Amino acid sequence: MFKSHSLYGHYVSRGLSVRFSITATNFLKLNRANERMIHLGDCKEVLGNLLASGERAFDLVITSPPYNIGKSYEMPMSHADYVKHIKDRLRLVEKLISPSGSLWLNLGYSKAFNGQHFPLAYHFWDTFDTMELRQEVIWYTRRGAACRHYFSPRHETLLWFQKKGQTPFFDLEAVRVPHDQSKCTCGTRNGVKRCNAQGKNPTDVWPTDDAMTSLWDISTVAAGSGRASSERVPHPAQMPQELLARVIRACCPPGGRILDPFAGSGSTLVAAKENGREAVGVEIDPKYVCLATGRLAGISEEAVV
Ligand SMILES: C[S@@+](CC[C@H](N)C(=O)[O-])C[C@H]1O[C@@H](n2cnc3c(N)ncnc32)[C@H](O)[C@@H]1O
Ligand SMILES: [Zn+2]
Repeated sequence: MFKSHSLYGHYVSRGLSVRFSITATNFLKLNRANERMIHLGDCKEVLGNLLASGERAFDLVITSPPYNIGKSYEMPMSHADYVKHIKDRLRLVEKLISPSGSLWLNLGYSKAFNGQHFPLAYHFWDTFDTMELRQEVIWYTRRGAACRHYFSPRHETLLWFQKKGQTPFFDLEAVRVPHDQSKCTCGTRNGVKRCNAQGKNPTDVWPTDDAMTSLWDISTVAAGSGRASSERVPHPAQMPQELLARVIRACCPPGGRILDPFAGSGSTLVAAKENGREAVGVEIDPKYVCLATGRLAGISEEAVV
């Protein structure tokens, strides 16, 4: 499977250097050791194979597909071809989700018509046969393009889908936002604060600028010398661990199984590992499969031979 791809060499990007020299054998060994497998290939083919093998039992899918905005990992496509391309793959994803499972789709803007930024959530919210939209969460990303002719985009959308007619797993207690009752101005009943001492519901806007919830502010993973986030790895669309951890703790039971069909640098798999869940990823670009494997094995900027 890996013979045609080189998994050797250094990978240097945006001032960050990651040295990987992973032989195909060691790659497989690392994947097995982690029990968090990243498949190399087009997810259309890999998910088709998983379905053919009888796989159906993912508790949670979290994924951020390409947005067709000219990133290095994208094939240039017309807008119409792009929408069809992603929908074809998402319709395979839905078949792999268990009845109490959830799908979280992270969607930003695409340059659709006349180069204008177009919010992709409007294209994909009704993609599915067996799933329906449960909630839209706004992720305030803080960073993004500076625009002159319309408002600079500063949010991405997280669409949460459930199986039609089912109740998806949801553990609010696992994701309450810290709330200091000694300082808050919430109402009282019989002299006791009405708000929950265990913390607040994080709401459907992540984050707010409310000082009370600032512990949960989730910025994009910054790049660039001197200002790069400590979790930054060389992938142009890396998702923050904090955001993934919130989705995982809320929507996947402990020990459950997670899938990311556009795995990139493996952020979903790393968050799954840190939160005691199993995870499977699919990634089409061998250098990101390599990067993700190294991250999962806790290896950075060192050689693995
Ligand atoms: C938006 S990025 C995902 C980033 C990821 N969430 C992370 O935190 O690193 C999309 C990824 O999908 C990969 N990709 C594009 N087309 C694919 C396909 N057909 N099958 C699998 N992966 C694909 C790209 O190479 C890219 O790494
Ligand atoms: Zn309060």
